[in-house]
Amino acid sequence: MTYAAITGWGKCMPPAVLTNDDLSTFLDTSDEWINSRTGMRERRVSHVSAIDMSVVAVSQALACAGLEGRDIDLIIYGSCSNDEGVPNSASGVQLAIGATRAAAMDVNTACTSFCYGLATATAMIRSGMVKTAVVIGVELISRFMDWSNRNVAVLFGDGAAAVVLQASDVESGLIGSVLGCDAEARETLRVRGLGLSYANKDVRFGDTLWDFDGPVIFKRAVTAMAEASIRVMADCRLTADDIDLVVPHQANLRIIESLAKYSGIPMERVMVTVHKYGNMSAATVPVALVEALEDGRVTPGGTIMMPAFGGGLTFCSLIVKWGDRVTPLGLSDKALPPCTKTALELVNESRAMHDAHGRSLQGLMSPLFVEASLG
Ligand code: UT7
Repeated sequence: MTYAAITGWGKCMPPAVLTNDDLSTFLDTSDEWINSRTGMRERRVSHVSAIDMSVVAVSQALACAGLEGRDIDLIIYGSCSNDEGVPNSASGVQLAIGATRAAAMDVNTACTSFCYGLATATAMIRSGMVKTAVVIGVELISRFMDWSNRNVAVLFGDGAAAVVLQASDVESGLIGSVLGCDAEARETLRVRGLGLSYANKDVRFGDTLWDFDGPVIFKRAVTAMAEASIRVMADCRLTADDIDLVVPHQANLRIIESLAKYSGIPMERVMVTVHKYGNMSAATVPVALVEALEDGRVTPGGTIMMPAFGGGLTFCSLIVKWGDRVTPLGLSDKALPPCTKTALELVNESRAMHDAHGRSLQGLMSPLFVEASLG
């Protein structure tokens, strides 16, 4: 039997830190509200493109595995914030790391994109189609955030991480997965302004309005992730006691605590990064995984569960059996260029562009717009 062992890991966190107090300078919000409702204290804002962040994360992951770009057969780029629609983003990473032999595909299932990508790459390795893959989770949400909407602007951050998978005869890597989609709730999270439905409508790309029903998403996310976790544990003939570490999607500390409770796993065995990075959508799970490794929380042969949810509403829970190695074989000196601005300055630039252009989406796009155009 062939398995897909995780042999490399790396992250790229942009240096500019946006605090809750920074957000309070232009939104009717407070550190007290954000922290008590979400557990978030700060998040990162990127000064470079999503591909640039990915290249640093992938370079670290390759060095960690002792591999080079030309060793890679497949690149999966998990994200909902692509630098461009065409060409795809995975091709940009392929070019930058010299992975000339690699197939390169983008996967967008919103916040679950890394997890769906990990499942896809594992299946392709286990089927014998490819031997070595890179899976990326990256997000640059600050570039299409509606900074005037306190319901969403306080929740998200930028970042990237990647893993390397290699074919192995030893049982390790992804050993169980439940992937699903609660499409009846797809209206609860929509970024108006992104996508071809908004073309030729006097909408400038980057101007967005978010339809976001936080409380409904909250409830459906907890249910979906808990049910998927219970199912995947049963599929793998494991109980909650067998899970050494949970590395969940980090949308809200209260969601994570509810999930842990329903899954029967104490919070001491749950990795939490939401206080320092907010919700980085597809980058959230892989960044938390990399930090769990850096913190010594992943043990050789350990069992890790990764539940996640995102717009769609896509959901999943994965179980990974770790291999023997929990330390990198090498380190890359690839790093981001220095950032000369504060996070608040970067955000204020975005806000100024948005205001200068006007709120062209207001009134133009109703949630029914997409359905009407289909009908
Ligand atoms: O990864 C996928 C995306 N992530 C999610 O979908 C997250 C899921 N949802 C959540 O995490 C929570 O629902 C939120 C954090 C978004 C909101 O927390 P909540 O406890 O569900 O609050 P709420 O939406 O019921 O709002 C409570 C109050 C409202 O005021 P009123 O109507 O009670 O007067 C909001 O207008 O809090 C107000 N509010 C805020 N106040 C200060 C909403 N956002 C803010 C804010 N600062 N940033």
